[in-house]
Amino acid sequence: MPDMLSVALPKGRLGEKVYGLFAAAGYDCPALLEPNRRLIFENPENGVRYFWVKPSDVAIYVERGAADIGVAGKDILLEKAPEVYELLDLGMGRCRMCVAGPRDFRDDAAHVLRVATKFPRIAREYYAAQSRPIDVIELHGSIELAPLVGLSDVIVDIVETGKTLEENGLTPLETVVPISARLIANKARYQFKSGEIRSLCGRIQEILNRKEQL
Ligand code: PRP
Repeated sequence: MPDMLSVALPKGRLGEKVYGLFAAAGYDCPALLEPNRRLIFENPENGVRYFWVKPSDVAIYVERGAADIGVAGKDILLEKAPEVYELLDLGMGRCRMCVAGPRDFRDDAAHVLRVATKFPRIAREYYAAQSRPIDVIELHGSIELAPLVGLSDVIVDIVETGKTLEENGLTPLETVVPISARLIANKARYQFKSGEIRSLCGRIQEILNRKEQL
């Protein structure tokens, strides 16, 4: 089915919420919510095919055209800077990218600041804009541990409820950038399937507007 619109959804709670939005906009695919481990679902009646993708991989599927469109966090878009179009802010998965550290942290400009993070590009750009020299320590998880055991002075990480920081005696020090889920499109497919993609955007925007009015 060459005309089906393929959509990479981030697997997990956010993806299910995003699917709810797509379904409300007329792109439902009931099989997608069945409890099984399949990764591809399609509803030819609505001309749509969904893939469940690891959230941090959605942008790669879309950039390379394995999916026409997808939903990715602004954090990944800033960090990986994929060659995709960012079409809509879906207003879901809201959180913020923060500098966080011990409650009594005081920055000492005489020393290079050690920053542990999963987001080295975002951290570098943030501190470069302040001309603050830093040493980026790239980690892949449990970032909050780094300042607790002396691996870093601060962290640059996502804060949603703030619970992880609080339970580890850390506190948000500065907000780097607000984050939310974005609808993205492959650049060539956007030209090729512009009718379908624009109509989907319009229908989703309508649902978002209606939600705002509630
Ligand atoms: C993120 C982030 C924090 C946590 C913050 O990790 O790295 O650890 O969420 O959330 P909170 O403010 O609500 O406590 P995530 O759950 O995405 O897991 P990951 O580190 O495996 O990516």
